[in-house]
Amino acid sequence: MEYIKYRFFKKASKCSKEYQRLKKEHSNDVIAEITLGQVLTGMKGIPLLVTDTSKLDPEEGIRFKGYTIPELQEKLPRMNPEGEPLPEGLFYLMLIGDIPSREDASNLSKDWATRAHVPQHVFDVIDAMPKNSKPMTQFSAAILSMATESVFQKAYRAGVSKQFFWDSTYEDVMNLIARLPHLAAYIYRRNFHNDEHIEPNPKLDWAGNLAHMMGFDSEDIRRLFRMYMVIHADHEGGNVTAHTAHLVGSALSNPYYAYAAAMAGLAGPLHGFANQDVIHWIFEMMETLDTETPTDKQIEEYCKYILDEGRIIPGYGHAVLMKTDPRFTAQQEFAEKYIKEDPIINIVNQLYRVVPPILSEVGKIKNPWPNVDAYSGSLLYHYGIKEYSFYTVLFGVSRALGVLASLTNDRIYGIPIERPTSHPLEWFKQQVDPDIEIPQDFEPRQSGRFL
Ligand SMILES: CC(C)(COP(=O)(O)OP(=O)(O)OC[C@H]1O[C@@H](n2cnc3c(N)ncnc32)[C@H](O)[C@@H]1OP(=O)(O)O)[C@@H](O)C(=O)NCCC(=O)NCCS
Repeated sequence: MEYIKYRFFKKASKCSKEYQRLKKEHSNDVIAEITLGQVLTGMKGIPLLVTDTSKLDPEEGIRFKGYTIPELQEKLPRMNPEGEPLPEGLFYLMLIGDIPSREDASNLSKDWATRAHVPQHVFDVIDAMPKNSKPMTQFSAAILSMATESVFQKAYRAGVSKQFFWDSTYEDVMNLIARLPHLAAYIYRRNFHNDEHIEPNPKLDWAGNLAHMMGFDSEDIRRLFRMYMVIHADHEGGNVTAHTAHLVGSALSNPYYAYAAAMAGLAGPLHGFANQDVIHWIFEMMETLDTETPTDKQIEEYCKYILDEGRIIPGYGHAVLMKTDPRFTAQQEFAEKYIKEDPIINIVNQLYRVVPPILSEVGKIKNPWPNVDAYSGSLLYHYGIKEYSFYTVLFGVSRALGVLASLTNDRIYGIPIERPTSHPLEWFKQQVDPDIEIPQDFEPRQSGRFL
């Protein structure tokens, strides 16, 4: 067994024993109460999932194994001293719990390079889809079609004992992460560069190779991709992507199935699609206002019009966070350090000034502050990756790190099939007030027009 796998096994088996002990000795202890409001607003705040890779604090933001993003930027190994930390290092941290050495991160890079071969039939599946299929449709279909390679599925069929499920899951997880950059880049070159594909360069790190296969070889873009892959890698277990992978994985579906399903969730406008929607929204605003340099007043009026239309302002709000997302701040600092001046980035910064007070005025919006997606598209756009329908795929490549590390943990803990209870609406009504009338019809609002 190679040493990273062995280290994971040693650490995780201790936690697994603790999991089993808690299950045996404390299963009947009460740990939380739930309100009807939580049930009716997306189960927010109910502690229902065991996820060790990262924890999201509403006020402070994400911590990966206890480390904030600025702490990670200081402690994780880098390619070169003035560059950005390697995502390989973060994966090691999430999987094993310790900050890796430079050598550990580099060994992980090499290991992934040896696992990166994508079977031809997966490219054939992508090529069989019409070019107007959304990049995320192609990406999730490609991941699903790669399930032919599942080591877990073969081990299960061969009758391997439950206690070893983690082993073949680990192999699938490492293979899948290793292959995602090639899939993503293939879709990018197919859709936007006339099918002129670029072979992987096994000497490059995971994020650098993704940039290379997409056609970008400058150190600037490699640095951006390393930072991007680190900050998007995980956001505890309840977000749609992580929860979907966990849920599907709990049926002992193989990691390819679980991650393909998760990618269908990431593609939603309230989740990962927001990163492309922000750029689309900014262009739509510039077109409607007929200017590339709108004033604060114009932006304010436009935002109010959007809200009056019953639409969302993408990149703002969050289901858990109650302040500016530290991932937004990390990207803002990156732009200040490396970019200085860019018209779209200027608008993103202007939106940060104008939007929160407007959203606060609405009253019902819990968090008026920007999330990670408010910034990411403008950085990609600046460096020449202007095809924003592709942006969510990049998010999907990165999020695999946290979600699949968690799936490996799930299998070593022996987490059972997930099966919450559901009831008809009438049952919930009976719990709180049997006399409430549920309205049968309502008047749809009329769509208005701007200006
Ligand atoms: C992230 C998001 C889905 C969280 O949703 P949530 O947990 O339901 O958030 P809230 O409890 O604050 O929502 C309360 C109300 O405010 C609305 N709201 C929240 N954020 C909003 C935004 N950015 N623009 C307009 N309305 C918003 C919700 O749609 C909801 O309206 P409703 O009561 O009519 O259904 C939501 O903030 C959103 O849609 N943001 C824009 C999309 C986005 O950036 N997604 C990426 C998230 S990382």
